[in-house]
Amino acid sequence: MSILIACGPTKLTISRANLKPNGLAANPVLATDSTTIQDWEEKVRPQLQEDLERQVFGFLPDASSTQILDKTTITENAYGGQASIEEYTLTATAEFNGTSATTRPFKLVVVIPNDTTTPVPVIMLQSFCPNHNTVQHPGVSKPVGNGFSCDGDGFMSKVMNYVFGRYIATPPTEMILEHGYALAAMYPSEFVADRSERGLADLLALSKGHEDGETRWGAIAAWGWGFSRAIDVLEQDERFNKDGFVTYGHSRYGKSALVAAAFDTRVGAVISHQSGTGGASLNKYKKGESVGEITKTFPHWFSQTYANYAGREQDMTTDQHALLALIAPRPIFLGNARRDVWSDPNGAFRAAQGANTAYNIYNKQGLTQAKLNNYNPAADIAFWIRPGTHGVVKEDWPAFLEFMDAHYKEIK
Ligand code: GCU
Repeated sequence: MSILIACGPTKLTISRANLKPNGLAANPVLATDSTTIQDWEEKVRPQLQEDLERQVFGFLPDASSTQILDKTTITENAYGGQASIEEYTLTATAEFNGTSATTRPFKLVVVIPNDTTTPVPVIMLQSFCPNHNTVQHPGVSKPVGNGFSCDGDGFMSKVMNYVFGRYIATPPTEMILEHGYALAAMYPSEFVADRSERGLADLLALSKGHEDGETRWGAIAAWGWGFSRAIDVLEQDERFNKDGFVTYGHSRYGKSALVAAAFDTRVGAVISHQSGTGGASLNKYKKGESVGEITKTFPHWFSQTYANYAGREQDMTTDQHALLALIAPRPIFLGNARRDVWSDPNGAFRAAQGANTAYNIYNKQGLTQAKLNNYNPAADIAFWIRPGTHGVVKEDWPAFLEFMDAHYKEIK
């Protein structure tokens, strides 16, 4: 028991999130109901982006490009003949201050329904498991000498599924295809490792022209940028709906999925599950994981400036509701669990409330719920909370797809 109590995430898992907004509201974003769309897009958005880059994520590249080194069709007969699996080998180039650098090669695996008489939305997924775990086909490449393995049905894999849910490593691809969507999988550690030392080295190598060490980009920003590099490739393919590039991620990749949408308007919608600190949850007056805890455990995820705000978050002139506001008017799904207090569902809810001003500028409502548990999949900001803890469990994907259907069925 003392071990349990000593462990922050576990201790917080024993508590439950309050279902009513509980705590101070998010500070207003730099806009009012009378701000015009033009002012919002030309003046307010760039300022909000810069504040978040400076104080939280570090700066994204000034310019970027993506190179296709190879493309292969692994099979045209996957999932009972319903879909094809294609694999790209890519590199991406980031430019800071006139100096550019290119990533190691990385893969993008696409599962696409064979029946695409009309262009289909594509759920773009990042995971801490390599692509061959996400898309289970023997033809999918395994990462070379790199990283975490979620392989097999051994003991560790069973423990992982038991603790973090049946869909933690592998999404229900048949279910996604049945709803008429494609899936595109990336393993972001291939281009920026999710390890403190190696990750920082990768980030440094890719941001050579960025002189300010305090605001150099962190891995969350770089992974978010990785989603955009996938769109560079997929938008050239007529089989995909141009409004249907949906970023999806759980936890750390729930954070990168939000960053991608906030900085790239080609992202059509976001499914961000349990993104927590540095994602949808406010930094000020927060419960769960503190800025100090996240930046100490994961020094490569954010800018050093964010770490410097630990214990003095009140001094920040921005907060995470600005990240959500930047996504307006596009739909956002925020997934949460009642006992996942480490991810602070209440702070995410108050952030969503704070982002409404931006949706209102576009004559949209944003969040329609008054409480955390009145899920409305058709809302611009759909807030979902289920019982249980941190993970991707049986009820989660049906909820994600309900949100997708509510926003994409009529235009498919
Ligand atoms: C840790 C971390 C969280 C993160 C999570 C995950 O728990 O503290 O911020 O979201 O890992 O990615 O699973």
